[in-house]
Amino acid sequence: MRIAMIGTGYVGLVSGACFSEFGVHVTCVDKDAEKIERLKRGEIPIYEPGLDDLVARNVAAGRLSFTLDLKEAMQGVDAVFIAVGTPSRRGDGHADLSYVYGAAEEIAQNLDHYTVVVTKSTVPVGTGREVEAIIRKVAPNAEFDIASNPEFLREGSAISDFMRPDRVVIGATSDRAGEVMRRLYRPLYLIETPIVITSLETAELTKYAANTFLAAKITFINEIADLCEKVGANVHDVARGIGLDGRIGKKFLHPGPGYGGSCFPKDTLALVRTAQQVGSPLRIIETVVDINDKRKKQMAQRIIAACGGDVTGKTVAVLGVAFKPNTDDMRDSPSLDIVPALQAAGATVRAYDPAAMHEAEKLLPGVVWAKDVYSALDGADCVTILTEWNEFRALDLRRVKALLKAPVMVDLRNIYNPDDMAQAGFVYSSIGRPAALTKSPTA
Ligand SMILES: NC(=O)c1ccc[n+]([C@@H]2O[C@H](COP(=O)([O-])OP(=O)(O)OC[C@H]3O[C@@H](n4cnc5c(N)ncnc54)[C@H](O)[C@@H]3O)[C@@H](O)[C@H]2O)c1
Repeated sequence: MRIAMIGTGYVGLVSGACFSEFGVHVTCVDKDAEKIERLKRGEIPIYEPGLDDLVARNVAAGRLSFTLDLKEAMQGVDAVFIAVGTPSRRGDGHADLSYVYGAAEEIAQNLDHYTVVVTKSTVPVGTGREVEAIIRKVAPNAEFDIASNPEFLREGSAISDFMRPDRVVIGATSDRAGEVMRRLYRPLYLIETPIVITSLETAELTKYAANTFLAAKITFINEIADLCEKVGANVHDVARGIGLDGRIGKKFLHPGPGYGGSCFPKDTLALVRTAQQVGSPLRIIETVVDINDKRKKQMAQRIIAACGGDVTGKTVAVLGVAFKPNTDDMRDSPSLDIVPALQAAGATVRAYDPAAMHEAEKLLPGVVWAKDVYSALDGADCVTILTEWNEFRALDLRRVKALLKAPVMVDLRNIYNPDDMAQAGFVYSSIGRPAALTKSPTA
C-alpha cells in the first residue's frame, strides 16, 4: 500500500514512520522547508525516543521518504492523511482549522485517482464533512472518500503507543474507505488491537471525549491533593485506594502542577466551545479548564512560599521545563506560567532540561540556562522540579544540599519521598502529601 502524510510534526512523522514499519510506502510532506531538508539529511527535528532508528531503518528500506511536493507525494496513493496542527484559535478558543482546510484544498488540486482522505489531526465534529465540501468544490469530479482516524499517541512513548495502541478508531463514509483503512491497520488487527469502526462524526467526537475525560481525571486528583494537604492525608494512598477499583483505574491519578502540552489545553477548550455552540454545554469541562488555568498560576506562589515568602534577588533553580519527560515539546507547559511568575516576583531563574532548552529559550526570556543539573543548582536559593525526567529522580542529595544556599526543594511532581528528604535535611514540599509522613504500609 502507499500513503501520503501531510504534516511531519509529532503525529505525522511518528505515524508515517510507523506505517512504513508496517510495510506501507509512505511519503511525508511538510511546508516547512527546513524540516524536510533536515529529515532528508537523516536528522529528526523533534525529540522522541526511538524515532531516529525507526526513520533511518525505513528510509534505508526505501519505504519512507520526505518531500515538499504534495503532487509527487500523492502519486498512486491509497490514502492521504492530514496530520497538520489544530491549535487554539486566538481569542475564542475554537480549534484553528486553517491548516486542515488549507491541506484539503491542496489535496483537491492533486486528486487524480480514487483516494481516501483521512483526518488524523484532532478536529471538531463536522470538520470531515467540511473537508469533503472543500474538495468537492475545488474538484467536483474527483473520486474520493473521507475518513476520520484520530490519533491517541502520547509524546515520549509515541512509537509504542502507535504500534500497540489500546484501540484504533476509524470513522468511514463508505465501505470502500473502511476497507482501505482496515488494510492499513492490518498488522494491528493481527495482534488483536480493537478497531472501532464508526461514523465520521462519532470518530471526531471520540478523540475529544477521550482527551477531556483524561484532563478531568488529572484535575480531579489535583483537587483531591489540595484537600489532602488541608486535612493531613496522602494523595498517593488515596490514588492507590481508588485506582485499584477497576471502574476507576490507576492511570492519570498522579497530582502535579496542572496539565499542559500540545493537546489537553487546546482540546478541552475546543470541545467546550463546540458544546456551547450547539447549545449542549459541558459544564464539567468548563470547570476543568478554569481550575487548571488557575492551578498553573498558583504554583509559583508555592515556590515563593517555600523560599520564605519573598524571592526578590534570589535564584530559583528549575529542573525541567518541558510539559512532560521524554519530549522537547513546550506547548502550554506549566513552566510557561511558573517561570515568568517567579521572574515577576523578583527571582532569577536558572534552569536545566535534558531536551527542551532549545525550544524553551525562545519562550522563556531572561532565564539563565545551565549545562546540567548540578550547575543549575550551584549557589541557588532553592530548587524546584517541574518535569519528572528520569535523571532528576536519583539526584546525589548530599551534593544538591552542598550546592544550594539553603536546602529547600519544591517537588511539583512528587518524585521524592517526604521522609527521605526530611532525613537528608531538606525543607521539602510536594503536592498532596504531608511534609514528613510516617511511611505508609502500601508505599
Ligand atoms: N502531539 C501530540 O502528542 C498529539 C497526539 C494526538 C493527536 N495530536 C493532534 O495531531 C495534530 C498534529 O499535531 P502535532 O503535534 O503533530 O503538530 P505539529 O505542529 O508538531 O506539526 C504539524 C506540521 O504540519 C505542517 N503543516 C501545516 N500545514 C501544512 C500543509 N498544508 N502542508 C504540509 N504541512 C503542513 C507544519 O509545518 C508542521 O510541521 C493536531 O491536531 C494534534 O491535536 C497530537
